Amino acid sequence: SEVYFNGEWMPYDQAKISVFDRGFMLGDGLYEVTPFYEGKPFRLEDHLARLEYCLNEIMIDFDTSSLKALKLEAVSRAGLSQKDAAVYMQVSRGVAPRTHYFPEDVKPTFLMYAFPVKLEGFQHKQWRVLVSEDLRWHRCDIKSTSLLANIKSNSESHRLGLDENLLTRDGYFTEGSHSTIFFIRNGIAYTHPEGPQILSGITRKVVIELCRELNIPVKEQAFPVSELESVDEVFLTGTTTQVMAVSEMISEGKTIYAQPEIGPVTRKLQEAFVAKTR
Ligand code: PDD
Repeated sequence: SEVYFNGEWMPYDQAKISVFDRGFMLGDGLYEVTPFYEGKPFRLEDHLARLEYCLNEIMIDFDTSSLKALKLEAVSRAGLSQKDAAVYMQVSRGVAPRTHYFPEDVKPTFLMYAFPVKLEGFQHKQWRVLVSEDLRWHRCDIKSTSLLANIKSNSESHRLGLDENLLTRDGYFTEGSHSTIFFIRNGIAYTHPEGPQILSGITRKVVIELCRELNIPVKEQAFPVSELESVDEVFLTGTTTQVMAVSEMISEGKTIYAQPEIGPVTRKLQEAFVAKTR
């Protein structure tokens, strides 16, 4: 299939990057994954705004003005115009001799492609998750391609036959390895506040809006691991996760939370989420 690479569309196996690309050598880059429901972009402006925020935070000078049109083109070129899909894009600092400081005047390397996504399975599934320590750096608001800590954690859960991780820092849940966490207790939704400890999830923002529409109070505050016993429902959100119920949490070989049924608040939000995307 085709990719858009440094200004041109080409078969993916013809796209070549330099061994001195700072994305390859140092993980010096950013990425975004934007959903398309039945070919229509979902919250595209929010995804572009987040990329711009991140570019600014790590001082990569990259013009994003053509990205909206390019994403639409990626979807249509992949034959996904009527389908559920996502567009992956990545900007790395560019090619330069290896130094820890970033050199001035390098041209960023850019990659984009569309891929099919199954966007409705989540109402029929639940995830079992591993609770483990958040090993990431202190700027998780930057959607960096340096994902080593996420990969280490998610590989541990994968090896145990589990679906995702719930990460904890100093006794509080932060987020998943590639998703946002919501807790429901006594009809109130809790999710970690925005800031350097989590990625500002676009799906998180949509679900908070849905809570407001459905009169579900939202508290944007970190949830303590010690209060897990009082929780009624847990679900995860994300571009590729949507609104996924959690049925079991495992920590150090023990089940610390179990909820075999998808809870009523989660169900309501799943239905509202699907309605929003159709
Ligand atoms: N992951 N938190 C982390 C650490 C993430 O990597 C993601 C997204 C989210 C949810 O963000 P959003 O709702 O904007 O997709 C939260 C993407 C999809 C990925 O890594 O593939």
